[in-house]
Amino acid sequence: MTTILRSTSNYAQSNHLIILSYKNQQTWLPALLTETEQKIVQKAIKQDIKQLILPQLDRFIIIEILDASDSRPELEEQTRCIAAKTIAIIRKYHLEEAVLLDYTNDHLSASYAEGIVLANYQFLKYFKEKEQLKSTFHTLHLLTEFIPSKEVELLNILFEGVCAARDLVNEPLSYLTAVQLSEEIKRLGKAANFSVNVLDKAAIEALKMGGLLAVNKGSNDPPTFSILEWKPNQVVNKKPIVLVGKGVVYDTGGLSLKPTANSMDFMKCDMAGAASVIGAMYAVAKAELPIHLICLVPSTDNRPGVNAYVPGDVVTMHSGSTVEVLNTDAEGRMLLADGLHYAKQYDPELVIDMATLTGSAAHAVGNQGAVLMGTASDQTKKALLQAGIETHERLVEFPLWKEYGEQLKSDVADLKNLGGSTAGAITAGKFLEHFTAYNWMHIDMAGVAYLHHEDAYRTKGGTGYGVQLIYNFLLNYAKS
Ligand code: BES
Ligand code: MN
Ligand code: ZN
Repeated sequence: MTTILRSTSNYAQSNHLIILSYKNQQTWLPALLTETEQKIVQKAIKQDIKQLILPQLDRFIIIEILDASDSRPELEEQTRCIAAKTIAIIRKYHLEEAVLLDYTNDHLSASYAEGIVLANYQFLKYFKEKEQLKSTFHTLHLLTEFIPSKEVELLNILFEGVCAARDLVNEPLSYLTAVQLSEEIKRLGKAANFSVNVLDKAAIEALKMGGLLAVNKGSNDPPTFSILEWKPNQVVNKKPIVLVGKGVVYDTGGLSLKPTANSMDFMKCDMAGAASVIGAMYAVAKAELPIHLICLVPSTDNRPGVNAYVPGDVVTMHSGSTVEVLNTDAEGRMLLADGLHYAKQYDPELVIDMATLTGSAAHAVGNQGAVLMGTASDQTKKALLQAGIETHERLVEFPLWKEYGEQLKSDVADLKNLGGSTAGAITAGKFLEHFTAYNWMHIDMAGVAYLHHEDAYRTKGGTGYGVQLIYNFLLNYAKS
């Protein structure tokens, strides 16, 4: 995380100021600006200029004029996006810190801070000249009169979780193997005080996780299965909530090598589901939410090595069910199935899996949201959809009608890992459903995990989608 948020009750005269306001909300003008400056600003506001930079003797004043909105989520998203635009200005003038004054009366400090922190995110690890490339902007000061300091502390924690997820997605396979992913999880576990248990290949074999082992057969590197747990003394849930994240550190498609031009270029993102559950776990534990939470991360790369699993293979899964493999590029469901079955032993209250599972989900909704499926109650799904709206990490629900399951019938095994030519996101969901026997929700985030062009505060590359969604869902869960 490049930028941190700091809570303060006052600020120095020379601090750069960022002012959030509405067109008709100008009571703050006389206190901060000279009469000439006030005239300039009033004229600009009248002309519907939304963003103004005013150089004073020893500081800049950046003025943001927001459009009023009846919809709270829209207003918050507008605020995040305007902050992202300001990051470009901040970088242009090499500013180092600024104070935010929120004169909207709509409590938009948190949204604005989010836009600033996430838009200023950088992944510079592999540049030789990283110091020159690094954004100078390191601190946004938030005043206690606009936002309580406890809330600022929680925002820092949450954005750390998002940036940790982005970092993991942005790391290439040359660094982030399955073993290295488990090391990163241990590091984050130490920082946020959750426990980590990593099963190595021998332990995975002993547990007969056939799906994960089949995908790993073509790889030179061993698989891992990481178990993360946060269990504070006071919890609201008697039975744990379990998150399962797809941890395919690289997806070549295996022997069913990826056919589409350039589609392999960004397949380091295929552990984004894992990154999201790890980032969410980090935030939940560090914020000490009163929730018993477990995360499972089955991980390997998917490669066409000499011993790779082949189309036609029949694999006995961790659950004991058999799967006929008809496409080795449908690998995510193989290892998620083992993770989902493993979750059963906890007698979970709810299981949520997150995965960059299908191109089909990405085609259906693009990068505007993820796809939700599941067997959890309507009330639980509604709560997740609502968290999606609040965090702008939106979801749309797809059905799991039983007829889709017909497509997974195999001639030689209990089911096959490939559906027909249509409804690919759903048949993948149906496949996973087979391994669940509890309240379950599945998030296919193939379209939103990774961006090829920046989109406001969602920087190019890993987006960290899902961290805030899950954190918010669990926060509301703890309250209700
Ligand atoms: N990792 C891919 C899905 C994906 C696509 C992620 C685009 C991110 C962006 C997944 O393992 C995959 O290859 N899915 C196949 C399944 C098919 C073979 C049934 C797909 O969607 O084409
Ligand atoms: Mn694949
Ligand atoms: Zn994949």
